[in-house]
Amino acid sequence: MWDVLFLFSSICTVVVGAAKTVTGYIGEQLDIRCPYESGYESNAKYFCKGECNIGTKNIMVKSGSIARDQRFSLTDNKTTRVFTITITDLRPEDEGQYWCAVEGTVYDRYSEIMLLVKFGSFVIVVTAEALVLLLIGFPLVIVALRKRKKNKSLLLSSIIESSPVLYKQIEDTGHYCTPEDRDTYTTVVYSSVS
Ligand SMILES: *[C@@H]1O[C@H](CO)[C@@H](O)[C@H](O)[C@H]1NC(C)=O
Repeated sequence: MWDVLFLFSSICTVVVGAAKTVTGYIGEQLDIRCPYESGYESNAKYFCKGECNIGTKNIMVKSGSIARDQRFSLTDNKTTRVFTITITDLRPEDEGQYWCAVEGTVYDRYSEIMLLVKFGSFVIVVTAEALVLLLIGFPLVIVALRKRKKNKSLLLSSIIESSPVLYKQIEDTGHYCTPEDRDTYTTVVYSSVS
């Protein structure tokens, strides 16, 4: 399965195999398997992000050293000759090009990983719930708003009930106004009470 390939991308690296696309989900853990050939068991392994050119290697995690980003870890199974990169709490910015790398005396052997980060199924559930809320909630809001309009007359009766003096004042003031002005005045009182 491991066709040793061609392609010297620089003096000191060799690309092994075809690029592999791996998909992970936001907030979840992802294991990336990096198989390697027999004879490299004791070599150091690392996981590099981006172009990973000599001199600008962005090494996320390397065997035998602590990762800068604690979400990245590396375990090497020398029996199965697979080293596994584990990324916890996956984030959208983790998406992109990576390289599984095996350090060599002459050159490092690279195999390319394309990491895609997607929204998990839980997000879809939330969205579906939001949609249901919108469909049920929106008519409810309209009904509530209509009720509020009707309640304006209820508000007046509650004024009469709770504060007869205030109501008397409203009524008395109204007597000195033309009917149009009276309506305006009452409206003002409503809004200041509510
Ligand atoms: C390597 O993988 C084999 C097969 O899955 C397993 O039995 C073994 O315990 C693993 N070794 C390590 C060091 O994880």
